Amino acid sequence: MISAKLYKIVYKILANFPFQTNHVHYLPSCHSTNEVAQDLLQAGVAEGSVVITDDQFAGKGQSGNVWNSFPGQNLTFSLILHPAFLAPNEQFLITVILSLALKDTLEEILPGEVKIKWPNDIFFNNRKIAGLLIENVLRGNHYESCVAGIGLNVNQEDFPEDIMGTSLKMATNQQYNLNTILNSLMKSIAGYYQILKEESRLNLTDAYHQSLLGIGEERKFKIRKDEFNGIIQGTDEFGRLLVKKGDEILVFQHKEIQMLF
Ligand code: BTN
Repeated sequence: MISAKLYKIVYKILANFPFQTNHVHYLPSCHSTNEVAQDLLQAGVAEGSVVITDDQFAGKGQSGNVWNSFPGQNLTFSLILHPAFLAPNEQFLITVILSLALKDTLEEILPGEVKIKWPNDIFFNNRKIAGLLIENVLRGNHYESCVAGIGLNVNQEDFPEDIMGTSLKMATNQQYNLNTILNSLMKSIAGYYQILKEESRLNLTDAYHQSLLGIGEERKFKIRKDEFNGIIQGTDEFGRLLVKKGDEILVFQHKEIQMLF
């Protein structure tokens, strides 16, 4: 289980974070760390604040889905960022860096390549190992804040079949220390956030495209009831998926299209 010890470890990690002030809000149990983080945002918390729990009993997934996680077995936390250096139409870059940070961290542990299933599901061996729920706060023409919720399956060994889930333990047969994984992930996020602030964004989007599940391969897609074969080309600057169908390049928003396995 994550314990008070984790609080100290996270706090130490965050001390080296490229953020101005650091706060860790550890809750033994909570409904959703994203919801708690949203409440903290209203109260005006600093960039780099983290809400983390051992037992998230009403976790939110993408598109109104739930995120289920067995207590004490996985990482469920939310990171608050104030990416004011990005324009509102650049918000997809936060998805890019967090997906890459998860990929890098997991590839240090797993015996193979980790893929990003567009837009921000993290897959290993065609099974989902982590998910991101990024909730942005825009004010007028400013990108004010974002709550980046991360669910990473670490030691859980049982998932409903329709979820196609996996965990570090299922993939390697080993038990992991949650603090160690969190430490590596936070370092990776910090590194990518710094790159986003200082370096070429093209390099980041290139790395993201190269990591996309199915990129450059002929795959079957579904739009509502229609199925077609196409090839993922990458994403546009807004993070929309570009799929080549015959001679046409089609552009899709999240949830407009499903890639079939
Ligand atoms: C998804 O793939 O559907 C997104 C999953 C995001 C789950 C995380 S767990 C921590 C944070 N708090 C939430 O309520 N959801 C996110």
